[in-house]
Amino acid sequence: MALLRIQGGSVIDGQITASSAKNSVINLIAAALLADGVVTLSNVPHLRDVSTMIELLSNMGVIVVVNDRMELEIHPNTISSLKAPYELVKTMRASFNVLGPLIARYGEAEVSLPGGCAIGTRPVDQHLKGLRALGADIAMHEGYVKGSVQGRLRGARVVFDFSTVGGTEHLMMAAALAEGVTLLENCAKEPEIIDLANFLNLLGADIRGAGTSQIRIEGAERLDGGAFEAVSDRIEVGTYLIAAAATGGRLEICNAVAEHNSALLEKLREAGAEILTNEGKISLDMQGQRPRAVNIVTGPYPAFPTDLQAQMMTLNCLAEGACSIQETIFENRFMHVPELARMGAEIQLQNNNSVALVKGVGELIGAPVMATDLRASASLVIAGIAASGETTVDRVYHIDRGYQQIEERLQRLGVDIKREAG
Ligand code: EPU
Repeated sequence: MALLRIQGGSVIDGQITASSAKNSVINLIAAALLADGVVTLSNVPHLRDVSTMIELLSNMGVIVVVNDRMELEIHPNTISSLKAPYELVKTMRASFNVLGPLIARYGEAEVSLPGGCAIGTRPVDQHLKGLRALGADIAMHEGYVKGSVQGRLRGARVVFDFSTVGGTEHLMMAAALAEGVTLLENCAKEPEIIDLANFLNLLGADIRGAGTSQIRIEGAERLDGGAFEAVSDRIEVGTYLIAAAATGGRLEICNAVAEHNSALLEKLREAGAEILTNEGKISLDMQGQRPRAVNIVTGPYPAFPTDLQAQMMTLNCLAEGACSIQETIFENRFMHVPELARMGAEIQLQNNNSVALVKGVGELIGAPVMATDLRASASLVIAGIAASGETTVDRVYHIDRGYQQIEERLQRLGVDIKREAG
């Protein structure tokens, strides 16, 4: 298995350009199934999750062409199978979101249930409740969800029990081709949801209110093809900013939307970073200082994102002072804690492992560590950069799901990091 070998002690200094958001792109690829025409997505990041999604569509017979400028050309009308197999869905839960588009467009689909996940059980009950409300007949059979509808899906009112990003996106897609008006209430408000609405509206859908708790969708009879570029990846942006702050460094990020990272920027300022934002750029300067500890409570957007919790924990491990980090979205998202402890971090888990009390230590010490999920692996890479001595991060395939060219980018920022075949 490939690993990353990091010689620690560097201070991040330089400039990078953010990629398009992984968590938007994978939904746009699912949404492309709704189109009756060719969909082109530009500036698509070279990531394992994107490849999985392409493989899933190809497996259904859909022609997907990728060119050397990382443009994806999707030909949804070439589809020949309406089945998403377990082997692919289990590797990436978001692929479950092809279910709604397939039922909406073709009247039936068979999609594997995604199963468990390292960070939590992650059920799909809200997705299924919504699809049923739109008139889909949903049945479970041998680990698969079989969905069907006579004629078209029908618009309905769906009230989510709690904020769900994937559930909101899934229902928006299905409702885009339903007959009549759908009202989604208690929706998630993440920027990727607005991005999906913009994409579907470009294809001819009528979606209003994305980014608020109520989304209104007037179903269309058909959607066209079209060309689109996804919004910048706020989690990639956040990860690099935290890495720079943790090492006392400086960083300028282009193609970044400051507003999408408001909660993080506030916390980084509190930690002592000087931050300037200006027309698609975010600059951070720590002026060589050690960060101050900052308390974190994760929550649905616009609160502090769970996808940056692990990275921020590493910063806090290095900080002056102590803090508490509360995870409210996933029940098992502290798997980086024992790995950070192997590098000398002082962290105590409390409240049924939903709160971490972190006492900043002057220095982390390099060690062999193991990545357990995508964002946990990013936190270990940051720890390795800041630590003294050598760190190896094993199971690096986790990081390749969501960070393109991570070692090349970090090398350009002054980090001594290389990939080795395991
Ligand atoms: N949930 C349910 N039932 C449902 C749906 C969700 O119980 O039907 C629960 C989940 O188990 C979780 C909470 O509700 O405890 C929130 O889940 P949500 O549906 O909002 O998350 P998601 O759509 O599965 C997306 C991102 C995650 C990110 C979360 C929260 C994508 C592809 N994934 O997941 O990203 O952590 O929103 O912001 O958009 C990552 O990029 O590393 C990642 C895990």
